[in-house]
Amino acid sequence: NVLILDFGSQYTQLIARRVRELNIYCEIHPYHKIPEDLSSFKAVILSGSPLSVRAEDAAHPDLSEIKGKLPLLGVCYGAQYLAHFNGGNVAPSDIREYGRAKLTMIKDAEGLFANIAEGSQVWMSHSDTIAALPTGGVRLASTADVMNAAYRIEDEETYAIQFHPEVYHTTDGKQLLENFLIHIAGVEASWTPAAFVDTTVAALKEQIGNEKVVLGLSGGVDSTVAAILLHKAIGKQLHCIFVNNGLLRKNEYSDVLLQYKGMGLNVKGVDASARFLDALAGKSDPEEKRKAIGRVFIEVFDDEATSITGVTYLAQGTIYPDVIESVSVNGPSVTIKSHHNVGGLPDFMKLKVVEPLRMLFKDEVRRVGAEMGIDSKLLGRHPFPGPGLAIRILGAITAEKVSILQEVDHIFIEGLRKWNLYDKVWQAGAMLLPVNSVGVMGDERTYEKVVALRAVESTDGMTADWVNLPYEFLQETSNHIINRVKGVNRVVYDISSKPPATIEWE
Ligand code: XMP
Repeated sequence: NVLILDFGSQYTQLIARRVRELNIYCEIHPYHKIPEDLSSFKAVILSGSPLSVRAEDAAHPDLSEIKGKLPLLGVCYGAQYLAHFNGGNVAPSDIREYGRAKLTMIKDAEGLFANIAEGSQVWMSHSDTIAALPTGGVRLASTADVMNAAYRIEDEETYAIQFHPEVYHTTDGKQLLENFLIHIAGVEASWTPAAFVDTTVAALKEQIGNEKVVLGLSGGVDSTVAAILLHKAIGKQLHCIFVNNGLLRKNEYSDVLLQYKGMGLNVKGVDASARFLDALAGKSDPEEKRKAIGRVFIEVFDDEATSITGVTYLAQGTIYPDVIESVSVNGPSVTIKSHHNVGGLPDFMKLKVVEPLRMLFKDEVRRVGAEMGIDSKLLGRHPFPGPGLAIRILGAITAEKVSILQEVDHIFIEGLRKWNLYDKVWQAGAMLLPVNSVGVMGDERTYEKVVALRAVESTDGMTADWVNLPYEFLQETSNHIINRVKGVNRVVYDISSKPPATIEWE
């Protein structure tokens, strides 16, 4: 178990993901909330920070229970911190160093730099520099502009690096983390999907005993993996509810329900389409639509959940990025998404909450799902927003518009699959615009709807870029849509990045 102390860097979560990729479990804690009991931690990593150690309000935690007692690696701010407050000196540098650099003078070729060659590319992002090493400091590597790019402290397992091993552009970053964690600190690489499944299933059995659990399935990866884990632990004591809000993709309700039943889940499908459409009638403001959908979802879910007698737990597919407590320096380094599929727990349902995925990153959820034999097609599904097509139909919603958009979306998504593009895209969908445009079909003048197609690349939805889909694919898709979907006479492709645009249009 590895402790990562967060000083507010935008890269802190990346450090954790790299560590987990080495099959090592780690936890992120804010620098000002160091766990009192450190006995389970075998090594500690200090993250970067947007602030300077020289600033008045610089983070200055007491590391006396850590430094010299546990293997310690300071990254960027962490490295400067270990220098500045231990007899060294950090000064503003003449050259702000951002981007690529090459390592020279590697000294610790058996230790921190094992299997890393002189000249290896690293990624820098700092404006201060370590002008003097701390007491006992031994320089291990430099770059053209940074004399003290890496150092260690003699007679301690304390290491520090100015560059960021967690980012993709530091070519040997993962090797360096492996050297530190496995070879120097002796941490065991035993955090595997199989081990996670075993321990989690055992813990869930223990926690839940003979009680009953209710879980809302959405068709997405997180709720499905959470359900299968619980199913392994408590079998039929798990009651799943899958609500059709009438805003799902074409055939999705019946297909997914069937798939869930095939997995042996005890699942009740509830078709509440009409209730949702009623609640949406006349609403065109995006936030009002979201609120109406959230409210009806809670009503429907609550009706169903309370009809199952003796339920004491509510299970949720919450994942680690939603629960990491972020350090706010200039606002939080990670903007936690405010939208959730399950609109939260209504007060009157006094259920205990169980969240089997709360320590996992999204890619780990997929790996755990694969380990349990969940279909790769389901695990590879694009994200789909909780309010579904409601936020892709701009303006007011009608049943007819939903059905037009379902057809358009279906042609687009099936096309992506057929052209082997689906897995290259992070998320794709179609938007129904609130305008009509003139067209001609045969000898007739038409005045019909415009749809926009959107396909983006992203890693977490926070930033995204449009995908350069082949013209031939766009051509075929546009033809199919206009020829087959009545009411649409024009197709456009969205070429905006996020920021400044968002992925959804509402
Ligand atoms: P935006 O449009 O904010 O989308 O760039 C980022 C990601 O979030 C999804 N999204 C939502 N998901 N409820 C959800 O469950 C919502 O209200 C919602 N709005 C956007 C969007 O599909 C994308 O993956």
